[in-house]
Amino acid sequence: MGATFKEFSNQYKELLESNLRAEMQTLETPQILKDAMIYSLEAGGKRIRPLLLFATLAAFNKDPKMGLETASAIEMVHTYSLIHDDLPSMDDDDLRRGKPTNHKVFGEAAAILAGDALLTYSFQLISTIQSAQTTADTKLALIAEFAKAAGAEGMVGGQVADMQGEEKQLNLEELEYIHVHKTGKLLAYSVIAGALLAEADDSLIDKLRAFSYHLGLAFQIRDDILDLEGTEEMIGKPVGSDEDNHKSTYPSLLSMEGAKNALEEHISAAKKYLRETALNTAYLEDITDLIAVRDN
Ligand code: IPE
Ligand code: IPE
Ligand code: MG
Ligand code: MG
Ligand code: MG
Repeated sequence: MGATFKEFSNQYKELLESNLRAEMQTLETPQILKDAMIYSLEAGGKRIRPLLLFATLAAFNKDPKMGLETASAIEMVHTYSLIHDDLPSMDDDDLRRGKPTNHKVFGEAAAILAGDALLTYSFQLISTIQSAQTTADTKLALIAEFAKAAGAEGMVGGQVADMQGEEKQLNLEELEYIHVHKTGKLLAYSVIAGALLAEADDSLIDKLRAFSYHLGLAFQIRDDILDLEGTEEMIGKPVGSDEDNHKSTYPSLLSMEGAKNALEEHISAAKKYLRETALNTAYLEDITDLIAVRDN
């Protein structure tokens, strides 16, 4: 691990982005669909999930490049979730990653279908992993975990609970369910996918699950805080969207101070589990620190 975290993240962000571009170039599909997919994929997110996967592989002293297809697939599912999250029937937001939302540019039907296409393509991508080090069993495990993290028991389930929680006073347990599912599951998958590619044993995977559970909660708590304390310029999305939609959030339930304390607690717990792995976790620790203080 000679490279600094900055060098590591620049290198692998670039690799990921050029792979996303290459994948999109080969698609034979109506132009509007291709344009809509490329528009959101290239709008410039932080690429935190791919970086988590690459950093997990680095923690196992594996070549992060072996995670390129899976990292690209995760970024596609994440991008689809954002396109749908912004739709008028969901959070009804006009700005994402500093640009007009997908449906504002391409219309609702194309935005829905671009999301659908990104979701399905992501599974195609994992099934075609080239690396000789990745066995067919590992690919199957990657696909099964991915489906669970993204679907009814994962992100989609959390999004539904988030919608049902509008206008309601939830308790902390109900709010935690929303955060862990709508956001935590895909972040956790990014770590678990790295561990599966590295053929980690179950006890290590359990520790990494505990790490990423706390990391995912911290990530969404920070997102809720930024929705109130950020500026549109910083976060690249509208400020106050949660209040406008009467969402239950950590600051609304616990006050801003309570939310900040909860964020700190989850960051410390995440780091504690990370240390227990006794892996080479420097980059994972850097990402954890970044999540605590990120301002976009
Ligand atoms: C935004 O995710 C949606 C949440 C799950 C909170 P990110 O904050 O990772 O968004 P991008 O990818 O950087 O735009
Ligand atoms: C993110 O929750 C959930 C998903 C996109 C899965 P938010 O609705 O808070 O995300 P932002 O704030 O719009 O990015
Ligand atoms: Mg939402
Ligand atoms: Mg939203
Ligand atoms: Mg938000």
